Amino acid sequence: MQVTLRHAGQSEISFACEADDTVLVAARRAGVTLHVACEQGGCGACRARLLQGAVHYPLPASSRWLDEGSGSEDYTLLCRAVPISPLVVETAHPWRQRDRAPLSRILGG
Ligand code: FES
Repeated sequence: MQVTLRHAGQSEISFACEADDTVLVAARRAGVTLHVACEQGGCGACRARLLQGAVHYPLPASSRWLDEGSGSEDYTLLCRAVPISPLVVETAHPWRQRDRAPLSRILGG
């Protein structure tokens, strides 16, 4: 599945999510660091607005963070959410992308 992240002030980013992987695991594999804390579906740090697509939760995720919202907005917890269709989510916090520059440049060589 394709996962696309949006956040105000950042360029949109997309990466692949393999079957049964959470968005968090897929993001890490793609070199993207998300804002997380507990990584167990309990704290809400990774909560994001679900703009398109659907997810399921094979492991527990607090309904407190999923149900809380205004009107018809849907929310998801990226540390627990496993996509079942292509996703577009708006994160509450910026993400960071790992520098893919050659190691020699990073090390100044
Ligand atoms: S990091 Fe705590 S709920 Fe996702």
